[in-house]
Amino acid sequence: MCGIVGYIGKRNSVDVIFDGLRKLEYRGYDSSGIAVIVDKELQVRKKVGRIYNLRSDILKDPITSNIGLGHTRWATHGKPSEKNAHPHMDSTKSIVIVHNGIVENYAKLRTELLECNQEFESETDTEVIVHLIKKNYSNSLFRAVQETLSEIKGSYALGIMCKYEPDKIVCARRDAPLVIGIGQGENFIASDVTALLHYTRNVVFLEDGDIAEIMADKVIIRDIRSNIIKNREIKSILWNDAQSEKNGYKHFMLKEILEQPRTIEETFRGRIYPNEGRVYIKEFGLKDEDIKNISNIYVVACGTSYHAGLVSKFLFENFAEIPTEVDIASEFRYRNSVLSKKNLVIVISQSGETADTLAALKLAKSKDCWTLAICNVVGSSISREAENVIYTYCGPEIGVASTKAFTSQLTVLYMLAFDLANKRGKLGKEKLKEYLNELWEIPLKISGFLKNIKLLQDIAEVFISKRNFLYLGRHVNYPIALEGALKLKEISYIHAEGYAAGEMKHGPIALIDESMPIVAIVVKSGVYEKIISNIEEAKSRGGTIIALASEYDEEIVAKSDYIIYVPKVNEFISPLVTVIPLQLLAYYIAVFLGRDVDQPRNLAKSVTVE
Ligand code: M6R
Repeated sequence: MCGIVGYIGKRNSVDVIFDGLRKLEYRGYDSSGIAVIVDKELQVRKKVGRIYNLRSDILKDPITSNIGLGHTRWATHGKPSEKNAHPHMDSTKSIVIVHNGIVENYAKLRTELLECNQEFESETDTEVIVHLIKKNYSNSLFRAVQETLSEIKGSYALGIMCKYEPDKIVCARRDAPLVIGIGQGENFIASDVTALLHYTRNVVFLEDGDIAEIMADKVIIRDIRSNIIKNREIKSILWNDAQSEKNGYKHFMLKEILEQPRTIEETFRGRIYPNEGRVYIKEFGLKDEDIKNISNIYVVACGTSYHAGLVSKFLFENFAEIPTEVDIASEFRYRNSVLSKKNLVIVISQSGETADTLAALKLAKSKDCWTLAICNVVGSSISREAENVIYTYCGPEIGVASTKAFTSQLTVLYMLAFDLANKRGKLGKEKLKEYLNELWEIPLKISGFLKNIKLLQDIAEVFISKRNFLYLGRHVNYPIALEGALKLKEISYIHAEGYAAGEMKHGPIALIDESMPIVAIVVKSGVYEKIISNIEEAKSRGGTIIALASEYDEEIVAKSDYIIYVPKVNEFISPLVTVIPLQLLAYYIAVFLGRDVDQPRNLAKSVTVE
């Protein structure tokens, strides 16, 4: 959460920083601020609300400088306000910092500073850092930062400037992402690469414990032991700037939903060969012998990624016959699971920065489990921590509501389950060919479905006045019911519950009356008749049924009020198609309600704090 950008070079840093902050706004958007050095003095501007508030303020009274730092905030300590917005300065206005993370021992540090008569401007945990740096400063910003960080407990990505050293930015990271962009006679820092793509695709990912000095013509990185790192790899990023733009769409979310036929294909391209009945995921890393020895799989993730994990339980158990548990990362890390060497722990994360998922991964590593990350962001903390990483290759996902990352995660999980099943002798070549062919055709089928997008708009319009929704599904589509409900609540602020349809009679059916819309996923499958009965029970209590059914299903006509037909696919693979209308339904309801679809209230794209 929170986004950081920094620049030093020949350009006006203010322009570079705004461009970067706009790309990082998905990380937090309750306030923003910028600091520059002009004539050896620090100048700081801050504003509550979206970045354009700050931008218009600066346009009225412009500032120019070749060095600067910017920050977009998601509040942790202290409510969104100008005082609490970053950057924060020390009392002599000599040093300024931007911070992403949490200072866990800030209360103690603050008390100690107060006892030394230090005054505080804000309620943030961050402010203690800048006062400590000033206290430790004699003539080297680098050394003052180094000393200060030894006193700090918690997580941080930091950008720091000092008016006495106007030719450098010092930055540091521990458990929060920070990347250095390498340019020609100019250098950058940012919370993630999307902020830099317009200027450079050559980046260096900082490691935990690193402190770096960024000058216009050089970068010096020191590791946790203060050794200068001479050969840290410069990575070339394949994403381009256009991918992180809306390209004419009203919202990133709509763009990302419509991209799915292509992003699913990009995820499986070069990894499945349906005609040969072969899966080849070279990044998987486990030897065939190890694969045979896996005793259990644990899948750990948060939010939408967790829902992808829930689908995978059906796949790993049904196809590969490996007992599988799926956990929410924030629960897993504190529940003392019985983990051992023969367990494969799979963490799923779009951003690769989710704090709980990262902690769960570290825990699994400490227990000697095999660890595998399914991740979208190259160089992210999770991708670097896991033994092996399978990237989802769906390009930058900017909308806070996750859509294309979800279907790409599912695609990886299908490939993985089929591969494991085949290598463990549970899925023969002919069956494997059949499933891979099904997967291969999904992008085309989704493209066909997306031609009828108007239907979703029409249905959405009917239901905008509703305050509650139920989503029902069974088997592999139970997690999709959860995902549909999550999409609706996070972007429209309408209360929605996802339920396993068979659970209705155990309580939730009491909620149903004439005012309750029920979205039922009732595609052709082994549980079709079961869910039809559940729909009848809901309908006879007055509920309005919006059925998501397989094309050509006529039986459903008499049982529902609205029907969304989706392409007919194998029941195990159906989540890849059933989730698309649910994303669109949530999207259009939110649009009709005038919600801020890409940046819903209270949320941030990457949850980098616990
Ligand atoms: O980056 P991650 O996949 O680790 O993020 C996990 C969740 O924070 C994320 O899926 C969140 O639930 C989304 N807002 C859902 O749309």
